[in-house]
Amino acid sequence: MGGISFVLNPKFADDIHDNKNLNLAKGFEKEFSVALDCFQPFNGACKDGELVAFMIRTKLTRTLQKVTIPLAEEATLAFRAHWDNCNDWRRVPLKDSIMMILAQITSRVFVGEHLCRDATWLQVLTKYTAHAFTAEKAVRPWPRFLVPLVWRMLKPCRETQAEFDKAQRIIHDAIKKRKSEPHLVFSDVMQWAEEAAGQSGYNPVVVQLAFSGAAISTSTDFLTQLIVDLCEDDELVNELRAEVTAVIKERGWEKGALHELKLMDSVMKESQRLKPLSLVSMRRLALEDVRLRDGTLLPEGTLSSVSCSRMWDSSVYPQPDVFDGRRFLRMRESLDQKTRNRALFVSTAPDHMGFGHGRSACPGRFFASNVLKITLCHLLLNYDFRSIGPKARVMTYGPLLISDPSVNVEIKRRKPGFTTEDGSV
Ligand code: HEM
Repeated sequence: MGGISFVLNPKFADDIHDNKNLNLAKGFEKEFSVALDCFQPFNGACKDGELVAFMIRTKLTRTLQKVTIPLAEEATLAFRAHWDNCNDWRRVPLKDSIMMILAQITSRVFVGEHLCRDATWLQVLTKYTAHAFTAEKAVRPWPRFLVPLVWRMLKPCRETQAEFDKAQRIIHDAIKKRKSEPHLVFSDVMQWAEEAAGQSGYNPVVVQLAFSGAAISTSTDFLTQLIVDLCEDDELVNELRAEVTAVIKERGWEKGALHELKLMDSVMKESQRLKPLSLVSMRRLALEDVRLRDGTLLPEGTLSSVSCSRMWDSSVYPQPDVFDGRRFLRMRESLDQKTRNRALFVSTAPDHMGFGHGRSACPGRFFASNVLKITLCHLLLNYDFRSIGPKARVMTYGPLLISDPSVNVEIKRRKPGFTTEDGSV
């Protein structure tokens, strides 16, 4: 592994954004040792990985409206399960607890109502991804051809494989059970994958772990940081609560309601602007020689990425170091249509690459945006929260920016002041 990796100036982002010879999945395959079975969910370039991207684009994103109410119901249950007993201030480890909550909420759409509340499944999901990242670091120093021989000696690899095997048993049992009840109708990733793969065959556990691997740790990292940011600004929290109350009390979870949470959208984009997943985005492998407009050659086989520096550039964002929750809301009020479009949380541009940019920009961002908004609505309406203990720090690992895994907050139950028709707030 290793080798040269180019970090390009953001001015090239739009030049290369559509280039088919710069491939994200194959880059990941090259960087990440995907030689082992238990790493297959990270291999977007394999058949199952392609099925995942296909299903997100063709099924998940088009079904968003239908899954809003199930997601809201699940959010109610997940918060009750994980943030209970807090009529008085109670301390929670923020990141772990948010991960369990988001794992349950997103799983509602990935594996359905029954399995999404299964404690063993949720443990597997959260442990598998964590072990896999440690395992990948453990195999990194080994020449790739030796990995299939040495992995059993490496504890993190054995742990990852054990979680993978557990996941395999759970998913196979769940599919068997569904097949024995053909009269029941399901509308979730497990069902869509069966339909989409048809006769061509696929590995359902790879698909499930790929979905969860892409969705849960990214969303958890994001929401942890956002809550840390909100702990700094009571006034903003009150404004967000007022917005959520006005929108959800009036419209419930009906079509378009989440779109009306404009301050929330802006706050989310601002938090991600200041702390995206990485200092670089658009990581790609050159499948052929690629020539940039200034003549620079990206030779076939090289990895490249684009610097996210414009996200903190004062010529793009005045006072770029200041968290300004209304920044993107103001952009949304601009007379210029392009500026308005760029202001949305789900928009991508060289100025904001929190979800990447171009043909491989995160396809799950529309789903992520809805899940995060629904989760935040529940959190804001039902809980007071405040920071406690040492100030949260952003951790770095290479170019990665990781929200603090050790931060604690105190939470306290509050009355939302209204109930939606279906009782999900
Ligand atoms: C806050 C949450 C999330 C963040 C910050 C995030 C971020 C990203 C980023 C930066 C990329 C690379 C884009 C590029 O290089 O142009 C990406 C790719 C991807 N994301 Fe997300 N993501 C999130 C949630 C999700 C969710 C919920 C799903 C699935 C439902 C998902 C599925 C994927 C997939 C499959 C790819 C690879 C796309 C491809 O190979 O073309 N992501 N994501």
